[in-house]
Amino acid sequence: MTSLAPARLVVFISGNGSNLQAILNACTENRLPARVVAVFSNQSDAYGLGRARNAGIPAFAVPKPKELDRRAYDAWLAGQAAEFRPAWIVLAGWMRILSSAFLSHFPNRVINIHPALPGTFPGVGAIERAYQAYHQGTISQTGVMVHLVPDEGIDNGPVLGQEIVAIDPGDTLEVLERRVHTVEHHLLVDVLCKIIAYPV
Ligand code: GAR
Repeated sequence: MTSLAPARLVVFISGNGSNLQAILNACTENRLPARVVAVFSNQSDAYGLGRARNAGIPAFAVPKPKELDRRAYDAWLAGQAAEFRPAWIVLAGWMRILSSAFLSHFPNRVINIHPALPGTFPGVGAIERAYQAYHQGTISQTGVMVHLVPDEGIDNGPVLGQEIVAIDPGDTLEVLERRVHTVEHHLLVDVLCKIIAYPV
């Protein structure tokens, strides 16, 4: 029996890269039949770039130059990512909205992780906003989702996986953040395993 080649992943980050690290660990430990072939960050000082380089993976800081308009930058970025022939592009804490100038190059192949349940708290600071909403009595729990990115909708698209995260009355924001990130790290790997085996 022949085994399939690992799926080629290009991961986009903007900061810490703990979700990138979860993917790298899962690949190394043979829990994910994939290989991260490149990492891109729009923030030059993103900690995650070092995580990639430590793992021997090409890692690029790609801040948007002022002179390029958004669509020109997105088209350029798509070209850079395409060089690595990705099976999937994973937005793992990538905090920039990608336009169709990028997305049209990878239909049904871009996925995003967001630290909230579908339809809730899109954009930045989702965990903190959920924490505040809990204390205002608007929500009783939060969660994590992984979804396809079909268009410019913020943290919105066909859901590939989601998991509820409990909030306890005594939680500090830091405790809740840790709980959410722990769930993210396994949900993202689980969803990648699923879509690699059964592509959408
Ligand atoms: C993660 O919580 C991810 O879900 C979130 O950014 C964080 C990145 O952490 N993404 C969004 O909020 C997207 N709207 P990491 O750099 O440690 O993986």
